[in-house]
Amino acid sequence: MARAAPGRFWWTTPAQSPAQLRVSTNLCAGLAGQMHGAVLLDETDEVLRPALIWCDQRTQAQCDWLNSKLGKRKIIELTCNPALTNFTLTKLLWVRDNEPELWKHFRRMLLPKDYVRFRLSGEHAIDVAEASGTLMLDVAHRRWSEEMMSAAGLPMSTLPKVFESPDVCARISEAGAKHTGLKAGTPIVAGAGDQAGGAVGMGIVRAGTVSATIGTSGVVFAATDNPAMDPQGRVHTFCHAVPGRWHVMGVTQAAGLSLRWIRDLLKNSGELSYDQLTREAAQVPPGSDGVLWAPYLMGERTPHLDPSARATLTGLAANHSRGHVARAVLEGVTFSLNDTFSLFDEMKVPVRNVRLGGGGARSDLWRQIQADIYGYEIEILAAEEGAAYGAALLAGVGASWWASVEEACDAVVKVQKQVKPDASAVATMKQQYEKYRRLYPALKPLSARS
Ligand code: XUL
Repeated sequence: MARAAPGRFWWTTPAQSPAQLRVSTNLCAGLAGQMHGAVLLDETDEVLRPALIWCDQRTQAQCDWLNSKLGKRKIIELTCNPALTNFTLTKLLWVRDNEPELWKHFRRMLLPKDYVRFRLSGEHAIDVAEASGTLMLDVAHRRWSEEMMSAAGLPMSTLPKVFESPDVCARISEAGAKHTGLKAGTPIVAGAGDQAGGAVGMGIVRAGTVSATIGTSGVVFAATDNPAMDPQGRVHTFCHAVPGRWHVMGVTQAAGLSLRWIRDLLKNSGELSYDQLTREAAQVPPGSDGVLWAPYLMGERTPHLDPSARATLTGLAANHSRGHVARAVLEGVTFSLNDTFSLFDEMKVPVRNVRLGGGGARSDLWRQIQADIYGYEIEILAAEEGAAYGAALLAGVGASWWASVEEACDAVVKVQKQVKPDASAVATMKQQYEKYRRLYPALKPLSARS
């Protein structure tokens, strides 16, 4: 939002002409943030310790404890998801088991963006999409699971109140206004975690629309009319930020992170920009002349659900260049995201439009690699500002600028161009993907925990 005149604000996107600008005095704030983190608060709402964030993998023992207490099948029945090291409940239980003195003072948990809301408003609140990634929500019924909480031995009073994403759930307090310059009394909608928020920002709000987003992590995300589940829990089944809808998503832990890691490793003492590295990668043919990258730098979620998985670069020969390694990393990350498309096929999740988001949508080379590996024509959007854009749209719905999230998306999300798969590259990528799928089983016996 840009300030136009005292008390008036303009809402615009690059795709809109001045005539389409909406001027409104109805203001509302929206929030989005990293998912799954655990912010622990004491009786007086003071933070007890640094948050354990989404990619922290230390909680396998707590997952095992939950599985032995409840059984894997029951956990999926209660929450639509298996116990995974990323999920918030397992992080709370880790603190219980490892920091017993601090645990005595634990009274409430919030997720990172919801702690920001608390500081802005004094309210303890969360949205259903974000709450889905805690393993404490009954995702099918969009409410906290009392049975899960009781099995974990946690009182319901530790949980914030749960809302649908576009619902107004708080207002900027005097203290929040003083710290930020926002107007006291401004309503705040519940918002969403970064993935559901980003999906709203990309118009992924109806069944059949799918996004592939490459940020630090990588996510393939599909909106669904029901809580669609993989019986093995290899994709997450969460509430969507759209009331009455759900979504399924597969997660690659180290997507953009793989490229940053290899860039930092290859740069010697000088600077090496992503542009330079992808220019070198673009000189290399599809399939990287046999070089393969499995991106398991931080374990892996989809499809392996294995926090001990480790990355590998294989197929190297003396004639391979830095460009080969860079291209293999771009392809390997995309193969990993393609695993989710393979699961969607198995689960019969419809895929009609595929839109790209995050850093992976900004590089021409990575766009083409994604089209060639997914085998779909892909769409590039005019405004690609991720989760913050989705949070702003949810705030717009909360302020009644639009009647629904779908209406907001239809009004502002515009496709700028399409990228078609290249038939000959598709065939090479198919062969290379089959080899990629053999890497994890081959590597498993060599991973850290075995
Ligand atoms: C989604 C996920 C990431 C984090 C970090 O499940 O873990 O999107 O929210 O951005």
